[in-house]
Amino acid sequence: MPKGTISILGLGAMGSAIAERLRESGYETTVWNRTAAKAEPHRAAGSNVAATVAEAAAASDLLLVVLLDHASVHEQLEPAAPALKGKTVVNLTTTTPGESRSTAAWAAEQGVTYLDGAIMAVPDMIGRPGSRLLYSGDENAYAIARPALETLGTAEYEGADPGLAELKDMALLTAMYAMFGGVLQAVAMMRTVGVPAVETARDVAAWLGEVVPLAEPTVAVVDGGAYDPAPGQDVHFTRAAVGSLITAAREQGVGADFLEPLMKHLEELAATGRGTADWVSAVEQLKIG
Ligand SMILES: NC(=O)c1ccc[n+]([C@@H]2O[C@H](COP(=O)([O-])OP(=O)(O)OC[C@H]3O[C@@H](n4cnc5c(N)ncnc54)[C@H](OP(=O)(O)O)[C@@H]3O)[C@@H](O)[C@H]2O)c1
Repeated sequence: MPKGTISILGLGAMGSAIAERLRESGYETTVWNRTAAKAEPHRAAGSNVAATVAEAAAASDLLLVVLLDHASVHEQLEPAAPALKGKTVVNLTTTTPGESRSTAAWAAEQGVTYLDGAIMAVPDMIGRPGSRLLYSGDENAYAIARPALETLGTAEYEGADPGLAELKDMALLTAMYAMFGGVLQAVAMMRTVGVPAVETARDVAAWLGEVVPLAEPTVAVVDGGAYDPAPGQDVHFTRAAVGSLITAAREQGVGADFLEPLMKHLEELAATGRGTADWVSAVEQLKIG
C-alpha cells in the first residue's frame, strides 16, 4: 500500500534520484519536468506524469521542487499559485539564503506552507549513507514532510528562518572552495619542480587530515571575542608565516592570489596596533556594511 502521494517538480539528475528514491520507499509519485521526455523513464518506473505544474500540484498535498535555480522556481511556481494554495512545498533547489527568504515570503502570500532545503549530497548518494539534507522554514511543513525527507538522507531542521539551511550549505561550500584554492596553490608550487598534481594532492590530503581537527580549538576565541593577548597564534607570527608562503611561491614563479587577501587583513591588523591579537581576529575584518 502506498505511504502517501508526493509530487516532484524537476527531473534533472537530482530530481530523478529523489523521485526514484521516493518510489523505492513506497510513495506514490507524480512527476513533472519542463522537457517532457525526461519524465518517460519515470512513468515506466511507476510514477504518474503531470503535464503541467498545476496538475502536479493538484495530485499531491506535498510537493518537492528540484529545479535549476531561484529564477526557474519562480518562473514555474508563480503561474501555478492558485493550484499550490493549501499545499506544502519543499524547495530543494539551490538558492541563496536571501532568495530562500523571498520565496518563503511569496509562498506565505499565496497560502502555501513552505520549507526550504539544501542538499549536501550528489544524486548517487540520495537515500544512501552520507547523504545529508538541511531544512529551514515552516516547522509544521517539516513535520509533515519529514517521513518522506528522511528517506533521502539524514534530515536536519535548522530553524524557522527559511534562509538558514542554504546559509549553512553555502558556508560549508565556501570552506570547501577556499580549501581547494589552497590545494591548487600547493599544486602550482610543486609542479614547478616536476611533482605531479596527484602526488601533491595526496600529500595535501594527508596534511589536511592532521590539521582540520584543529579548526574548532583555533576559532573558539571568536565566540568570546577576547583576542588580545592572543590565546593562540598572534597576528605578528602569522603575518610572518603567511609572508614566507607568498615569497616562496613567488620564488618559484607562482602567484599567491588565494593567500594574498588573508595577508592583507593581517597587515591591516598589524598596522592598527593589533599585532599581539590572535590572528583569527581577521574574521572581524570580513564584516561589510
Ligand atoms: N547534482 C548535484 O550534485 C546537486 C547537489 C546538491 C544540490 N543540487 C541542486 O539540485 C538542483 C537540481 O540540480 P540537478 O543536478 O538536477 O540539475 P540538472 O540535472 O541540470 O537539472 C536541472 C533541472 O531544472 C530544470 N529547469 C532548468 N531551468 C528551468 C526552467 N526555467 N523552468 C523549468 N525547469 C527548469 C531542468 O529541466 P529541463 O530538463 O527541461 O532542462 C531540469 O529538470 C539544483 O538547484 C542544484 O544546485 C544538485
